Amino acid sequence: MYFKNSVAAIIIIFAAIIGTKAFFSDLIHVSYNDNLTVVERIKPLGQVYLAGDIDVNTVKAPVKTAAKARSGEEVYTASCSSCHSVGVMGAPKFANKADWAPRVKRGISDLVKVAISGVGAMPPKGTCMDCSDSEIKAAIEHMIK
Ligand code: HEC
Repeated sequence: MYFKNSVAAIIIIFAAIIGTKAFFSDLIHVSYNDNLTVVERIKPLGQVYLAGDIDVNTVKAPVKTAAKARSGEEVYTASCSSCHSVGVMGAPKFANKADWAPRVKRGISDLVKVAISGVGAMPPKGTCMDCSDSEIKAAIEHMIK
């Protein structure tokens, strides 16, 4: 009985030693192989160019294409004419002196301000949400002609 137990113990100890060795030698093996690619794996994502490395005069700056401002007529036709051509809900009509005269008296900059914020049934920016302030102004100038 005592003998049987010690044989079992020895077998277990051997299995453990062989298993541990196999385990670690496998790790060592893997890391050895990986060392060959370590430079590739840890290289930085970008590279720093120092002064003089490249001739900056040969590098073209990205061309910035500023969106061309639409004309007052374009903005009016696209966004304002639906209401202002016929005077929907009391909108001052296109080029109608009687409708515009009292408003023009307040000054163009005030009209621009009101058109941007909206008033009553007049929606903010006259629904032209991507219009710049100057495009709104151009559209108003086109309407009050
Ligand atoms: C949905 C209809 C509608 C659209 C679209 C619209 N308007 Fe108007 N607008 C109105 C109405 C209604 C009024 C009158 C508001 C009031 O006086 O109460 C008005 C008034 C104005 C006024 C006079 C504001 C004032 O202070 O008296 C300006 C300027 C104006 N609109 C500019 C524009 C411009 C520019 C656009 C297009 C970019 C535009 N509107 C699009 C309905 C519209």
